[in-house]
Amino acid sequence: MPTNSDILIIGAGVAGLYTALKLAPRPVTVVTARPVGEGASSPWAQGGMAAAVGPDDTPNLHFADTVGAGAGLVDPDAASVLVDGGPPAVEDLMAYGVEFDRNPDGTLKLGREAAHCRNRIVHATGDQAGAAIMEALIRAARASEHITLLERIVIEDLLTDDNGSVAGALAYNVAKAERIMIAADETVLATGGLGGLFAVTTNPVQAQGHGLAFAARAGALICDPEFVQFHPTALDIGFDPAPLATEALRGDGAVLVNADGRAFMADYHPKRDLAPRDIVARAVEAERAAGRGAFLDARSAVGAKFPQSFPTVFAACQKANIDPRTELMPVAPAAHYHMGGVATDLDGRSSLEGLWAVGEVASTGVHGANRLASNSLLEAVVFGKRIADALRDGESSERLKPNAPEDRLELPSKPAPADAMKRLRTAMSNGCALLRSEESLSNVLEVCDELNGGVMTSGLRSSLVAAELIVQGALAREESRGGHFRTDFPETNEDAYHTEICTAISPDDLEFA
Ligand code: SIN
Repeated sequence: MPTNSDILIIGAGVAGLYTALKLAPRPVTVVTARPVGEGASSPWAQGGMAAAVGPDDTPNLHFADTVGAGAGLVDPDAASVLVDGGPPAVEDLMAYGVEFDRNPDGTLKLGREAAHCRNRIVHATGDQAGAAIMEALIRAARASEHITLLERIVIEDLLTDDNGSVAGALAYNVAKAERIMIAADETVLATGGLGGLFAVTTNPVQAQGHGLAFAARAGALICDPEFVQFHPTALDIGFDPAPLATEALRGDGAVLVNADGRAFMADYHPKRDLAPRDIVARAVEAERAAGRGAFLDARSAVGAKFPQSFPTVFAACQKANIDPRTELMPVAPAAHYHMGGVATDLDGRSSLEGLWAVGEVASTGVHGANRLASNSLLEAVVFGKRIADALRDGESSERLKPNAPEDRLELPSKPAPADAMKRLRTAMSNGCALLRSEESLSNVLEVCDELNGGVMTSGLRSSLVAAELIVQGALAREESRGGHFRTDFPETNEDAYHTEICTAISPDDLEFA
């Protein structure tokens, strides 16, 4: 087990694996807490990957939709990089063996999702794009000599050197039951999102924002942590995590109805069921809160084709004894994606020397306050390649020996206790979900304070840091925008601004740029 690495990638979802592959021939170590492919959100991605590959489409149109969905906070340079990277990303994934779905004439079959003006989502086996991409990337990574893949290594924190640069990570080797320090010159966070901090989520419950917490504790700039996207149509069938009913269903014509059978989206937005995701999520919440319920009706739009077109959703429905060919699917909003994250430049560099971030943990600027559907796999691939190019072709820096983090070494190497996580997740869903206010957010902070004073583990500490970052960002943002809605500040400010939090800066100097 190497404890030194030139380049260390933390996380083995699409972002981590693709970055590692593109680094060739530079040696890279990829660590993952569970067997590769398990515990990551990527294989669960149903919707697919957005890319302007249709004959009626252009990157400019994809750019306009991305910026439009982002509610005033998309960085246009980052969005240009993203959309221009779409068509080559599709080609490259096919070269790794991903078989995207095709029409009978052999052209790529392109689906529609909310807030896209064109059909531009590539799918694989209906709703299994994430799994298909992961399978191809895992195969390629295992066959690549420059990649050392270490499984069951749980990262507990980043390590810094005397210059304040990130110089590796503190980790726990599950198989050997020992704590180790991995020294690295360059560390790439690819740790995914944080839906697992909420009681209702479409993410694996292990996705608890630990990468975000590591970066914040090391002093990296965190951007817009309050922007969490809630997917409007998680299946409300009592499962944790809540199975997703992909937006592609509405792209294919399925409609949201309430218990009276009324298609309610016309009451909320002219684009009805294909309105931006934040608007649909709040509409679903409003129908439920008014006691009318919310259901997805795919009976006439999809009907008998359901098992072939949406096998993952169909299997989830079957587990709950629902036949979506003939019955309505009960739905509820669920924490789905984190738009905020570790602030990066266009090459994935964070504000700290030696630290990079890619995928959901990063805030590259492409999502703004509300991510456009199916832009996340694309972001992971496009920006993963850019980090790899920058690292491979840039000048190498050697870090000093990392310092041992005494406060971390005192904590047991354990996940968060189940009862503490239950309290935190319930508090986050009650106070920091689709609708927030100063009062509800303060209630979450009280729960965090109590948990901070109780039995502490390495896992709980990181989950609490991540939760508090979201809540602090949400308290600081006294307006409503995109995925963030404050009932006490329902208006949107004329000037869009970012929330920037940096623990290396005193709270008095926090910037709201
Ligand atoms: C979905 O399939 O509805 C989710 C896709 C995404 O999150 O972009």
